[in-house]
Amino acid sequence: MYVCLCHGVTDRDIRAAAENGCASMRQLGKELGVGTQCGRCASMARGILRESRAEDYLALADLLASPA
Ligand code: FES
Repeated sequence: MYVCLCHGVTDRDIRAAAENGCASMRQLGKELGVGTQCGRCASMARGILRESRAEDYLALADLLASPA
């Protein structure tokens, strides 16, 4: 789904950016332009970014908890 209409950015784009290390709205703005024009997308983009980062942490925790 489109999150940022001004820059044509989807939730998938935001999740991909998070997987590639994007950890803040500032970085997201620099990489994809999210939130840098009208700003209406910022709240939803922030939520998707947080959700993606949380999923990364859970996956890492699972990995670290599994026996080698
Ligand atoms: S909708 Fe993202 S900056 Fe306008």
